[in-house]
Formats: sequence, C-alpha cells, structure tokens
Amino acid sequence: MAKDKKLIIGNWKMNLSVHDASLYLHTLSERVKSHRSVEVVIAPTTLALQTLSLQVNLRQFKLSAQNFYWRDSGAYTGEVSATQLRGIVSYGLVGHSERRYVFHDTDKDIRYKVQAAIRNGMRPVLCIGETAGERAMGETFDVLHDQLLTGLANVTSDELDQVVIAYEPVWAIGTGDNALPGDVTQAVTAIRRQLKHLYGAKVADDVQVLYGGSVTASSAADYLAIEGVDGLLVGGASLKADEFSTIIEKAFESTKKKA
Ligand code: 13P
Repeated sequence: MAKDKKLIIGNWKMNLSVHDASLYLHTLSERVKSHRSVEVVIAPTTLALQTLSLQVNLRQFKLSAQNFYWRDSGAYTGEVSATQLRGIVSYGLVGHSERRYVFHDTDKDIRYKVQAAIRNGMRPVLCIGETAGERAMGETFDVLHDQLLTGLANVTSDELDQVVIAYEPVWAIGTGDNALPGDVTQAVTAIRRQLKHLYGAKVADDVQVLYGGSVTASSAADYLAIEGVDGLLVGGASLKADEFSTIIEKAFESTKKKA
C-alpha cells in the first residue's frame, strides 16, 4: 500500500454481538467518509467477520482478524486459521499485548502467525510495545528491538511491504494514560532504524508504522503529525461512531497538510 496513505484500524476487541457489530458497521458506514488517502480497517470479534464481510463496502472499510492460529488446518480445537480467514479479511493483528500477556502467545507463535498471515494473503499488523515495568527499568528500546527481531525473523525483504508495525506501549492501552508524542517519536525512530538495519533503507522506508494506546479524537492529530507515524490502532474510541469518524477525518486532514 502506498506510504502516503494513512491507515486507521479500529480494534473492537471482545465487544459487540454479531447483531450489534452489524448495526454498528451500518452506523459507521453512514458517518465515515471515504478518502483515497486513508485506509480504514475494522477488527471485530472473529464471530462477526463473515457477516460483516458480506455487508461491508470494501472501498470504505477493510476487515481485520484480531487473532488466528498459524497452522493452516488440523486438530486444533477451538482455533481459526489464517487459511480459513482467506477472502474474508485483508489484515490480521499479531502479537497484540492482550494476546501476549493474557493468552501467553509466545515469540514463536507470533513469528509463525506473521508468516501464516503473509502466506494466506493477509497483511499482518505486528504489535510491539513495552510494559510499564519494562519502561520503568529503561528497557523500552531493548523490548522493541527483541519483539521486532523475533516477529520478523522469517520475513524476507520481498514480503516486508505486506507487514504493518504497530507501536502500542502496554501501559497506554485502555488506561487513558497515552504516550507523549516525544516518546512515540523516539520509539518509532528506533523501530525504523532497526528495520533499516535489517532490510536496508529502500525497503524499510516503505513499512507502515502505527501508534496505538488510548488514542482519542482529541489526541489523534498529534500522533498523526509525528514523522514516521503512518496511522493509528484505536481501541475504545473505535466503538464510538462520532469519535471514530472524527479520528478518520483527522487522518485525512493530516494527508492534506503533507500534500
Ligand atoms: P485503547 O485505544 O482502548 O487504549 O486500545 C488500544 C489497543 O489496544 C488497540 O489495539
């Protein structure tokens, strides 16, 4: 995807029934204006994906999985594979902190999920970020380095343009305690420096890097103005139609400023 496009992802997490998700998508489709320079992605509960995929106007919204298993098929009770999601979603979140810390997704799971996504035509959104404890210990950049390195371990430079990186400091998720733009600038600079080191400047510069963590309609523009931030991964605020559509408008305005 063109780098001059902003990417706004709404992660609905484990909220809304299938019926309510469908109604809410309908509300959003009436509020959200489509802009060529902004790609809007919705990540509803897995259960709602198929229903929403029949309803969604793909020119307006793309769909994302919040999670999936990395094997394509087999005896894995309760799991859904990236292969099964093929044709239903365009993106898949991988390594979200709630997966890492509540469900204990390991580095190996995350690495394999990134590959499974690419193999099945879905863009992985690799989420990385430090916990409050790691931040207090001054380990932020080491954590980002390790999570990036392990998450991308098997991704070739030809595949890298499929990958999106989301910097989501764990302490800022769902807390209202959002990161200062200066902190985000430093983290994103470190991420881009490492991508460059791993893949070379030409390929690395095209990777989309997002910020996520307590983003609201009032903070969105500040993050979008940061050099190297190509979009937002929004949780709570994506469940409010007015607020989410305002965030999308801010993304559109930020592309006009750059033009
Ligand atoms: P909040 O915006 O609710 O902090 O959630 C961020 C997030 O985890 C998005 O994936």
